Amino acid sequence: MVTNQAGLKRNGVQDFVTLRATAFIMTAFSLYMAWFFISTPTVTFEIWQGLFASTGMKVFTAAALVSIMFHVQIGLWQVLTDYIKPVRLRAVMQYVLNIIAFAYMAYGLFVLWGV
Ligand code: HEM
Repeated sequence: MVTNQAGLKRNGVQDFVTLRATAFIMTAFSLYMAWFFISTPTVTFEIWQGLFASTGMKVFTAAALVSIMFHVQIGLWQVLTDYIKPVRLRAVMQYVLNIIAFAYMAYGLFVLWGV
């Protein structure tokens, strides 16, 4: 029986559900943005700003940004535990990549609320 996979306590069911839930939100956001670019012949600054000006789109974008952070946090843990065997190296990589993921989210929210 596997009792300790990575040296850090995690909840597998919670990770599984969170990974899928965040994947759904990110995919929905990607499809919506693809539809926006396909259905908008010329994307001007006014149209782009108008897209993100509504509260609904702000919430949707914020949800996508937060989802990216959690998805990357869990997804990279899975990838790193599969491919990076030295525990210290894995811990450092995970630490740095988690900080990058957090920075993307924080900066994204900062930009979003400035629109
Ligand atoms: C550094 C970035 C990312 C990492 C490390 C990552 C990692 C993962 C991992 C490990 C899984 C689970 C695979 C499995 O258990 O079979 C997964 C599933 C998934 N990811 Fe990501 N992912 C990343 C970015 C993204 C992005 C940007 C999107 C969408 C825009 C995305 C969409 C999905 C989807 C749709 C699934 C399948 C969920 C399901 O099986 O229901 N991922 N990802």
